[in-house]
Amino acid sequence: MPNFSAKLIRWHKHHGRHHLPWQGTRDPYAIWLSEIMLQQTQVTTVTPYYQRFMQRFPNIKSLALGPLDDILTLWSGLGYYARARYLHQSAQLIIKNYDGKFPRQLDLIQQFPGIGRSTAAAIAVFAFGERCAILDGNVKRVFTRHFGIEGYPGNQKIQNQLWEKAIALLPDKNAKNNIETYTQALMDLGALVCKRSKPNCMICPLQQSCTALRENRVNKLPTIKPRRPLPEKETVFLILTNQKKIFLEKRPTPGIWGGLWCPPEMTTNENATTYCSQHYNLTIKPMSDMPPLNHSFTHFKLRIHPKLLKVSAQIDSKKNKAIWLTLDEALATAIPTPVRKLLKQIESNPTFTSKNG
Ligand code: ADE
Ligand code: SF4
Repeated sequence: MPNFSAKLIRWHKHHGRHHLPWQGTRDPYAIWLSEIMLQQTQVTTVTPYYQRFMQRFPNIKSLALGPLDDILTLWSGLGYYARARYLHQSAQLIIKNYDGKFPRQLDLIQQFPGIGRSTAAAIAVFAFGERCAILDGNVKRVFTRHFGIEGYPGNQKIQNQLWEKAIALLPDKNAKNNIETYTQALMDLGALVCKRSKPNCMICPLQQSCTALRENRVNKLPTIKPRRPLPEKETVFLILTNQKKIFLEKRPTPGIWGGLWCPPEMTTNENATTYCSQHYNLTIKPMSDMPPLNHSFTHFKLRIHPKLLKVSAQIDSKKNKAIWLTLDEALATAIPTPVRKLLKQIESNPTFTSKNG
C-alpha cells in the first residue's frame, strides 16, 4: 500500500490545483506575497489582489520603497492589514540585511515579522525546494482526522504532536519536485476534499487509511476549542430539621428554581446561627456540615455547602410559602436536582434518622 505522501502526490496529478497564479514560478518574492495573502484568506479572494499587487510592486525593491499608503490601498478589502505593514517592513529588512535577496533558510525566513513557522516552510518549499513541513489550519484538520488525534489543535501539546507528524510524513529526500507537489497536495486536499464542513471522504485518496472515517469520527475532529470555564458561585443551604421533618421554602419566580421547593439559602459569608435568629427568630443547634455539592447551569456553576441544623421548634409555614415535610414527602415534591441529591444523602445519614426528633 502506498504511504501517505505517495497517495497525495499521485492524487494531486489529476485532482490538485495546477494553475494558481503563484504556481509555475520560483520567484521567492511572488511566492512570499502569495503565502502572506493566503493566510486566513481563500484562493478566490486572493487571486485578483495578488495580480494587482504584483503589477504595482513586482519585486522586493519596489515594495521596500513603498509608499506604505499605496501598499495598504492595494490591500484594501483583503483584511488583516498588519500583513501588509509586515510585508513592507520585511522588504526593507531584506534590502538592508540580505542585499535584497530573499533568504533560503527556514530559520531566517521565519524571523521576518508576520511569518510563522508554517508560512516560512511553504515559502522554503515552493521557492527553493527545501524539505520543510507545513502545518496550517487545513493541514491540522487533515492530520487530526486521518490519524484520529483528539484535543484542541491550538493546545501546545497537540501542536507539537502535529508538527512531529508533519515532519515524519514528508516524502523521501530523493525524487525531484516531490516536496513541492506533496505540499501543494496537502493544501489542496484540505481545501477541496477534507473540508471543514461536509468533507468528501468518498473521493478522498486517504480514505482507506483514515482513522476518523473508519471510526465514524469525521465530524468530531478536529476537536473544537474548549469553552472558557464557567464562573463558579458558592452558596449555603440551611437544612433545618425538627421531628424528622425538614423545612422547605417556595422559590420566587422569576429566578433560578422559581416555583420549586428548596431549603433556605444564605451566602458563605453569613453565620447560620445569626441568620436563623434574624430571619426566623429561631435558635439552632448545628449538627453537621455535609460535603459540598456541585451543580452546573448554562452560565455558571454552583457549589452548594449544605449545613444540617437542628431547630428547637418548627417555623410557621407562612401561608404556603414554606412547609415542613418528611423526607419521603419532600422527595415527592417539586424540588430541583441538587436538593433531591441532598435529601437522598440525608436519608442515609444516621444522625438524622435516629437521634433527631
Ligand atoms: N494556502 C496557503 N498557501 C497556499 C498555496 N500555495 N496554494 C493554495 N492555497 C494555499
Ligand atoms: Fe478527511 Fe474524509 Fe479523507 Fe479522512 S477520508 S482525510 S476525513 S476527507
